[in-house]
Amino acid sequence: MDFDVVIIGAGAAGLMCAATAGYRGRRVLVLDHARKAGQKILMSGGGRCNFTNLNSTPSQFLSANPRFCISALRRYPPSTFLELVDRHGIEHVEKAAGQLFCAGKAKDIVDMLLTECEWAGAEIRLNTSVTAIDAIEGGYRLATNNDTITTESLVIATGGLSIPTMGATPFGYEIARQFGIDLLPTRAGLVPFTLHPDLKERLAPLAGMSVPVAATAGGMRFEEPMLFTHRGLSGPAMLQISSFWQPGEPLVIDLLPGRDAAAELAERRAAHPQGTVLHYLDEHLPRRLSRMLCDWHGWSRPLQEHSRDDLAAAADHLHHWSIRPAGTEGYRTAEVTLGGVDTRELSSQTMEARNQPGLFFIGEVVDVTGHLGGHNFQWAWASGVAAGQAA
Ligand code: FDA
Repeated sequence: MDFDVVIIGAGAAGLMCAATAGYRGRRVLVLDHARKAGQKILMSGGGRCNFTNLNSTPSQFLSANPRFCISALRRYPPSTFLELVDRHGIEHVEKAAGQLFCAGKAKDIVDMLLTECEWAGAEIRLNTSVTAIDAIEGGYRLATNNDTITTESLVIATGGLSIPTMGATPFGYEIARQFGIDLLPTRAGLVPFTLHPDLKERLAPLAGMSVPVAATAGGMRFEEPMLFTHRGLSGPAMLQISSFWQPGEPLVIDLLPGRDAAAELAERRAAHPQGTVLHYLDEHLPRRLSRMLCDWHGWSRPLQEHSRDDLAAAADHLHHWSIRPAGTEGYRTAEVTLGGVDTRELSSQTMEARNQPGLFFIGEVVDVTGHLGGHNFQWAWASGVAAGQAA
């Protein structure tokens, strides 16, 4: 065999796996069709890479088999990745609770992984496309655009479908299919919502505004900021809930999370009958939003001219603004791909395919998807290490 381990995909999971296997003394080769390694790391976290989350637990991952990720995540927790980051002297900051970002640039993380690969003796070949894979006695033979390579173990780390312009391809799913490994349907996750034309037009003047909300869909609720955009709704609350929303379902937004608008409006009506809903909303929402809501729903009259039921209905509306998104922006802007290689086909200890010895799947190509906030990289590191220790 030319190599002990060939890894296809020089992204987060692939590079982590390469260094781990290399340190075990395995002869490792990483192949990627892109010009640069770790392109998604470079663009992640607004260029600062939210590289892990100290509070990451298996409950922050979606999968048809929620227990699958437990073993790898336990064996390679966020604190272990943080030790690696510290050893490389990379400064970091905690932005929201547990979310660790580079203080400098995301490139620091890519450089760290490339240095680890170099120290571990793993070779990386970029601009290389794999045109065919065959199972041979004791391993695999790969045809690339340059040559033919044989290897004992083959690790698929080609990621999901999100951001095709950054080199995302369905390659990993095609390899799974070739070897009879089941796939679960894929869809875009952590993705902004698009709106039907009438609502889009109504909300257009709010583009660029961010407000704290609680968003509910698919039995999940996230209390985070929401961002109005020219195309629809985005921001952490929308990205988080998008992974749980199903097309056609309503999305319920609480514009005043933690408040009791019904009680507060009733109190105000008694104390300040000449006051308005607008006065009340102005205290809790940006003025452009409160004005738009009042114009839209006819809430501009003095409070005393609204019946108690009217105000209760207004409060209910503010806490349960129910919209039906037209859809999502899809893979074009999604941070992740939900679904993928069915985890029932893989060992949770090693990520090796149960029916195909020597073939491993790691990272986003597998049906394990984290919430927003550094969990997806944590899965890439943990699954990469799990396979790197076994391949
Ligand atoms: P990844 O996509 O990183 O790597 C796959 C590699 O395979 C790529 O290098 C690609 O070129 C290569 N490849 C694909 N097809 C191939 C083929 N046919 N032949 C050869 N090579 C091929 N997560 C997080 O935890 N914190 C964050 O801050 C962010 N931020 C973020 C921002 C944006 C804009 C996006 C799109 C995504 C994020 N994410 C994130 C998600 C995170 O980037 C993602 O979960 C990981 O990169 C997945 O790692 P993988 O190694 O599995 O795939």
